[in-house]
Amino acid sequence: MVMFKVLPTPLTAHAVMTDAPVIPVIVLDDIAHAVPMARALVAGGVRMLEITLRTAVALDCMKKITAEVPEAVVGVGTVCNAAQAEAAVAAGAKFLVSPGYTSDIGAAAKRLGVPLLPGVATGSEVLQVMADGFTAAKFFPAVPAGGAAMLKAFAGPFADLAFCPTGGISTDNAKDFLALPNVKCVGGSWLTPSKLMAAGDWAAITQLASQSQGLRSA
Ligand code: 3PG
Repeated sequence: MVMFKVLPTPLTAHAVMTDAPVIPVIVLDDIAHAVPMARALVAGGVRMLEITLRTAVALDCMKKITAEVPEAVVGVGTVCNAAQAEAAVAAGAKFLVSPGYTSDIGAAAKRLGVPLLPGVATGSEVLQVMADGFTAAKFFPAVPAGGAAMLKAFAGPFADLAFCPTGGISTDNAKDFLALPNVKCVGGSWLTPSKLMAAGDWAAITQLASQSQGLRSA
């Protein structure tokens, strides 16, 4: 049985990012996978779950996990506008992740009272999210946009911003990102491969989640 930290109320972006080294970026095609997948991740010590709005069943999956897996903290990813943020929070999402940023998405997160990891890839986008009051962001797409070297460079002018890089991260390069002081966690789809989900191999997903606990450098 995994012991989790007590979370602050209200939930903060910082708490979302520091709960575990990896936030799984999840694409669910089949509603029947939602609950066993969430249970498998939780059993491996991973409870912050980013369910992406990339499939028709995503909102229903959020509702089911919220109802049936109380240890999980359901978040929503691929939020591209305010209406999607509202629908996801109504379906149980406790945090939002967006692949890019608009002030509309920022305002929706504030109105809804949930933490947002706004997507940024350039200095101008960083300045915009900071101007709108955010202290944490998703760096996306992390590897194509400049990788760990880019985040190292961001730490100079934007020392107060904490990052969750995602996009192209796996066990091979996660440690390079997690070693940076401005990186609080990474995101990635490798904890929930579609092949394992289709095969119903939940034990393998628990194992991937458990392995990811060791990625943060000492
Ligand atoms: C995301 O939306 O954050 C990325 O698609 C995840 O990228 P990955 O599949 O390369 O981990």
